Amino acid sequence: MTYLQMNRQELEKEREKLEKEYSRIEQKHLRLDMSRGKPSPQQLDLSNPMLDCIDSKSDFRDKSGFDLRNYGILDGFAEIRELMGSLIGAAPEQVIVGGSSSLNMMYDAICRGFTHGMLGGNGPWCKEKNLKFLCPVPGYDRHFAITEFFGFEMIQVDMTPQGPDMDQVEKLVSSDPAIKGIWCVPKYSNPQGYCYSDDTVRRMARLKPAAGDFRIFWDNAYCVHHLTEEETPILNILEECEKAGNPNLVLEFASTSKLTFPGAGVAILAASKENVSWIKKQLSFQTIGCDKLNMLRHLRFFQDLDGVRAHMKRHAALLKPKFDLVVNTLHQNLDGVGIGSWTEPKGGYFITFTTPEGCAARTVDLCKQAGVVLTEAGATHPLHHDPKDNTIRLAPSYPSLQELAQAMEVFCICVRLAAVEQLLG
Ligand SMILES: Cc1ncc(COP(=O)(O)O)c(C=O)c1O
Repeated sequence: MTYLQMNRQELEKEREKLEKEYSRIEQKHLRLDMSRGKPSPQQLDLSNPMLDCIDSKSDFRDKSGFDLRNYGILDGFAEIRELMGSLIGAAPEQVIVGGSSSLNMMYDAICRGFTHGMLGGNGPWCKEKNLKFLCPVPGYDRHFAITEFFGFEMIQVDMTPQGPDMDQVEKLVSSDPAIKGIWCVPKYSNPQGYCYSDDTVRRMARLKPAAGDFRIFWDNAYCVHHLTEEETPILNILEECEKAGNPNLVLEFASTSKLTFPGAGVAILAASKENVSWIKKQLSFQTIGCDKLNMLRHLRFFQDLDGVRAHMKRHAALLKPKFDLVVNTLHQNLDGVGIGSWTEPKGGYFITFTTPEGCAARTVDLCKQAGVVLTEAGATHPLHHDPKDNTIRLAPSYPSLQELAQAMEVFCICVRLAAVEQLLG
């Protein structure tokens, strides 16, 4: 019987039962963290051999003979641009290899737009009024934090299993020159794990923005992060934009953060040749070049795309059982109760749980009191405000399987308790 079918007396009995289970858990004094999508220590161990790929006796030259220990090469040497471009299907000349964080490159891209403007625009964004940015929700909190920091009004667009609602996107983008961009995580999205359909990618590429300096921020953070043999392909946005006669519309980002070491990986920005040369001109004021020894380490470790794929299979072998555990626990405890739904992604780092409206914050609080830290409710929406208060991001990667099993038991009790409390008023 679902909770909605229960009468008041039955619900009260259910609440009593759940409260007993909850106090039993409180007495365990758990300290479990499912809040951020971090690789586990075992996943990090997979990349330890990379640290031995260069040492004091290594040959530090690239193919052209350039000594990578020295200053120079603003955008990364050719072989690393080729390897990193191959992750997302970009040609080496479309790629700028940056430091260790793609988020940093996204921030810098927005910052350059703000202070100096984008190709095709009328100068710095900071001289325009009422700047706006489209934010598909639920989405990635740190994207929204960047546009919040620069003072953009963040316009929410609904996510669907095929990607952002393109009717909404097209209408907004074509009618308002104050809209300067949209955040997209096209593959195994954060937090739902959705992959954009071909139709969505094509419609994105064919957008006719009112602003000449509008950009799609295509954060392909999970481009090679499959959990199963059944990889979900998405269309190449750079190619689609080119075909649509809109080559400069997109800035694409990716990194090795969740291939090797987050914070010590290699990040890229990929774009049209025109965008790349515009950006490189501005970048030359910022740096002489990034850490080429780290790029070399990554190149020697992976060798090529096949090397990356083999490595990602080892990640998947550690991650898949965790995703399975979360999904199976949800089925076992919540099937037929009618108080929530969840995504079952085939890649990426997150699962989204949708509670009845008004129950997400209470569920997260109950979990916290019982020693299980989840991503804060609201984090998936701009300004940390989830209007329906029903979205919870679950991040299964970091805890061990045993910890995850405990955390999910707590989660299921908390979501049930929050729902019963709400029904009883
Ligand atoms: C969608 C998305 N983009 C970017 C990042 C961070 O990338 P980086 O470590 O390259 O800055 C994350 C990390 O969780 C993410 O989920």
